Amino acid sequence: MNENITVLVTGASGTLGSAVTPRLAKQGYAVRPMTRSARAGWVTADLRTGEGLDDAVRGVDVIVHLASSPGRPQRTDVEGTRRLLDAARKAGVGHVLYVSINGIDRVPYAYYRAKLETEKVVQASGIPYTILRAAQFHDFAETMLSALSKLGPVIVDPTWQLQPVAIEDVAERIAELIAHPATGGTTEYAGPQVHTFDDLVRSWLRARGRKRPVWRVRIPGRMARAIRDGGQTTTATPTGTRTWEDYLAAKY
Ligand SMILES: NC(=O)c1ccc[n+]([C@@H]2O[C@H](COP(=O)([O-])OP(=O)(O)OC[C@H]3O[C@@H](n4cnc5c(N)ncnc54)[C@H](OP(=O)(O)O)[C@@H]3O)[C@@H](O)[C@H]2O)c1
Repeated sequence: MNENITVLVTGASGTLGSAVTPRLAKQGYAVRPMTRSARAGWVTADLRTGEGLDDAVRGVDVIVHLASSPGRPQRTDVEGTRRLLDAARKAGVGHVLYVSINGIDRVPYAYYRAKLETEKVVQASGIPYTILRAAQFHDFAETMLSALSKLGPVIVDPTWQLQPVAIEDVAERIAELIAHPATGGTTEYAGPQVHTFDDLVRSWLRARGRKRPVWRVRIPGRMARAIRDGGQTTTATPTGTRTWEDYLAAKY
C-alpha cells in the first residue's frame, strides 16, 4: 500500500537521513532522497539557492525534512525551508514532518533560535505539518565528548544534563508519525535516560578502555546554565528504548 506514497527525504545523506531513508524504503514507501550532489536514484536540490526544489517536490505526498546547516542556518534552515514549502504547497504536498531539537525554546543558542524560526515557517506554511523535536543523537553526544577532550584531559561541566537518543529510535518515530495524518503540533522525543556529563564521560572512557584526566569545571553563561537546569531534557513520552550504554556496547 505504501508504494503509492512518495516521500521526499531532505538531508537523506546525513546522520539521521541515513537511518530514515532505508527504514521508509523497507516499509514500502516510494522514497525520494534529496541531496545537493549528483547521485544516482536521488534528486538534486539546494535549499540555499532554491535550485531543483520544484522538481524535488513534484508528485510528493509527504516530506520528511531533515536537511540543516548549523553553520548557516538563516539561509539554509529558515529561508531554505520557506523555499521548500512554497514549492511544496504549489505541488499539493499533503504532510510535512519537520525534525527540530528539544529545548530550542529553553536553551539560548544561535542555531536553536534559527530552528525555532524554522518551526514557525513550517507552522505558517499552509501545509499540514508535524514537528518532531528530538534530543541529541548518541553519535552527536560522542562527537561532543571527543571535542571536549581535544586538549588531552576531558573538560566537562559535570552537572550538564543530556537525554541522548538513538538515531534508529528517531527513525522509527518518524515512520510512525508519517503513517498517520499530520498532527498540527510539536512533540519532543528523547532517549530513555537522563545523564549528567560526568556520567557520560565516565561511561565513554570506560567503554573505550581509555584513562584520561577529567577536568570538571562549571561553565559560565546563560546557555551553560540552561543545560545544567535540564533545558535539553524532556518529560515527553514515548521515549526511545535504546540506551547510551547500548550504543557504547554496540560500538566498542
Ligand atoms: N545531530 C543531532 O544530535 C540532532 C538532534 C536533534 C535534532 N537534529 C536535527 O535533525 C536533522 C538532521 O540532523 P543530522 O545530524 O542528521 O544532520 P547532518 O548529518 O548534519 O546532515 C545534514 C544534511 O543536510 C543536508 N543539507 C545541508 N545543507 C543543505 C542545502 N543547502 N540544501 C539541501 N540539503 C542540505 C545535507 O545534504 P547534502 O550534503 O547531501 O546535500 C545533509 O544530508 C537536523 O534538522 C537537525 O537539526 C539533530
